[in-house]
This record gives sequence, C-alpha cells and structure tokens, in this order.
Amino acid sequence: MDAPLSGSHGPPPLVPAALRETLIALRRDLHEHPELSFLETRTSDRLHAALAAVEPARLDRVAGTGLIARIRGRDPGAPMVAVRGDIDALPIQEATGLPFASRTAGVMHACGHDVHATWAVGVAHLLARDPAHGDVLVLLQPAEETGRGARAVLDSGALGGVRAIFGGHVDRRFAVGQVVAEPGPLAAAADAFEIELVGRGAHGARPHEGADPIVGAGALIGALQTIVSRRLNPARPAVVTVGSMHAGSAPNVIPERAVLSGTLRALDADTRQALHDELRRIAAATAATYGLLATVKIELGPPPIVNPAGPAEWARRAAVAVLGQDAVVPLGVLNMGGEDFAYYMEGIPGCFLRIGAREPGGEQIPAHSPKFYAAEESICVGAAVLAETARIASQALAEGR
Ligand code: NI
Repeated sequence: MDAPLSGSHGPPPLVPAALRETLIALRRDLHEHPELSFLETRTSDRLHAALAAVEPARLDRVAGTGLIARIRGRDPGAPMVAVRGDIDALPIQEATGLPFASRTAGVMHACGHDVHATWAVGVAHLLARDPAHGDVLVLLQPAEETGRGARAVLDSGALGGVRAIFGGHVDRRFAVGQVVAEPGPLAAAADAFEIELVGRGAHGARPHEGADPIVGAGALIGALQTIVSRRLNPARPAVVTVGSMHAGSAPNVIPERAVLSGTLRALDADTRQALHDELRRIAAATAATYGLLATVKIELGPPPIVNPAGPAEWARRAAVAVLGQDAVVPLGVLNMGGEDFAYYMEGIPGCFLRIGAREPGGEQIPAHSPKFYAAEESICVGAAVLAETARIASQALAEGR
C-alpha cells in the first residue's frame, strides 16, 4: 500500500535517497517492535544508534528511556531550539496486516509514534548536513501516552536554555503532503476523574433498609451530561465522558458502593475549571439526594495546546518552503484529544503541527484504532518540515524577531 523504497518518478525528493531508505527501515523496525510507556528500552537503543550516526555534539539519555541529541548550528552562541518526537506504543493488538506489523502480542504503534521518532532522527540527519543558525536539541521523548514523559524530561532540566520547541502528530484526516501549522488551540486539556458513591448495602428485596449506590450512579451519569449541555457556554468546547462504571456482585444484593471514572476535555483554562467545579457540585448534590456519600478525585492531565502566533508562523513558512503554498491546510475541526507536548509549551513558546498521513485512496483510520498506521511517505514530509521549522525559528530568534 505504500510506495516502494525508491521510485524513479514524481517530484524531487524531500530528503536524500539514502537517508529516505534509512528512515523507512528505521520506522519499519520501530513499528515491528513496539514498547509501552517508559519501557522503550529496545526502541531507545535503536534510536541511540540512529542518532549517533550523525555525530552530534552531545547525545544523552533523558527521563529513563528518552534521548536528547545536540546538533551543532553555524553559530555556537545563537539561541537554541528543540524538536521533539515521542516514542512509545499502546496496549492494543495490531490488526493492520502490514508486512512490518507488531511482533509483540497486545502492543502496537497505534498512534504513529514510530513515525514521530523517525521524524526526529530525520531532523538530526538533515540538520547535520545543513545546520540551523544555532544548536538544535533533538528530543526523543518516552511515555507520551501516559502523559508523564514530557514532565519527566522537563524535571531533568535537559531543556534549559531552549527558546522554542516544535513537534507534530501524524493524522490520517489529512493526505500526505498536507500540514496544519496554525495559531490557536491544537489539543485539549485532558483530566481524568473518579467518583466513588458509598451507600448502605442491603437485600435486593428490601431496598428501604439500604441506600442504593447503583440508582444514585444512574442518576449521576445523566446529571453529569448536563454540565456541557446546560452549564457551559456552547461557544466553548468541552467533553464529559463517563468511561467506566463498576458496582454490585449479585442480582439480589444492593451493594455498598459504585465507582465511576471518566475524562474531562476543554480548550481553555476557565472551561477546564468549570468542568471540575460542576463535576464536584453535581456529584455531591446527587449523592445527597440518594442518601449517599460522594468522593471525587480529579487527576490533572496535560493542559491544552494553544499555538502562539509567532512560532506557528515559522512552522507555516517552513511547510510552504518544503511543500509549496497549497500544502498548508486548516485544522477545520477542533481537536479534543490530549497531548503531553502541552507541558513544554507552558514554559517554552512553540508550535505543534498535524502532519497528513493518509496515502492516496487510503481511509481515514483514527489513531488508537488497531488498524491505524501512518503512510510511509509521511516520514520524509515530517522530517523535512520539522528540520526547516527549526532552521527558520533559529534564524528568527537570532535576529530578535
Ligand atoms: Ni499520539
């Protein structure tokens, strides 16, 4: 379904032919050997070797299974920028039928991080040949899927002195060669919640002797859906999803407790706070109505990604330079997915891109589907666009723009 390793027709290559073959082979190898968050040891060793080949100024391990390569710029005193690729896989049984499908049962690169890691290696190679103005850190980040990898990298201090950071995600809603590089919201805040309702167990035939958490949970699930529909401004996107509900053990027993869990998504801080406040308020009030006690836990995930105008413009110019004017397309629909790249952007300006990964005639397979894969040709597109973004950003920062 993907193009052969070397073609003899079509537009000029985005990366040199030998590098293209290296990157395609690397991606296939990573895809075949996926590893879960913070367990990416083979992946890390493979990427270490791929980065060492460009003889970076420094090549260090970071955050356990992560790597950071410092690629020399033309002016060692110039501002430094970073490009990040994530490397972890998901606990999903692959069903793509690809010749390089996962050989590990129940683990798969279903979110394209095999390609993101390959982009970053491609960026290191491209910048070693044609350097940016200042040094560029190429960061291979573990554990994006658990939302912990970016924070571990930040905690290590390895990004000290970085003035701008860039990264991207493959997206089969867009064809290979299309790039989203625009200011504004690109990913949502993604917080997890758990609500425990505690009642009083009783015989199923004598409910008046207990306090039934199942009936309370049923009412609560419905009431939580009024947060978005009745309490929030409809112009501010948000999602409340109850993803699990556990209670009871027998048909004729009223249990002591019920536990719900779910996810909250928002694109701005006020809406995010309103989701938390309303969730707590409705859980407490509904529990009281049914004679139950509610305990609400909210685990903060990444904040939203909102690309600032300046770095988004650098990325847009890079995409146009590499692919032409028509390549840059609007996101079109707001993305309520979460992405831990957001943690970097709390302290460092930057831009997160969506990079088209659907081959001609291909289907729009959603990420995290057992059939998801990124088209092979998206490898060279992402590597070339991110390398050029680093060059443009580095130049602009050096000139104080
Ligand atoms: Ni992903």
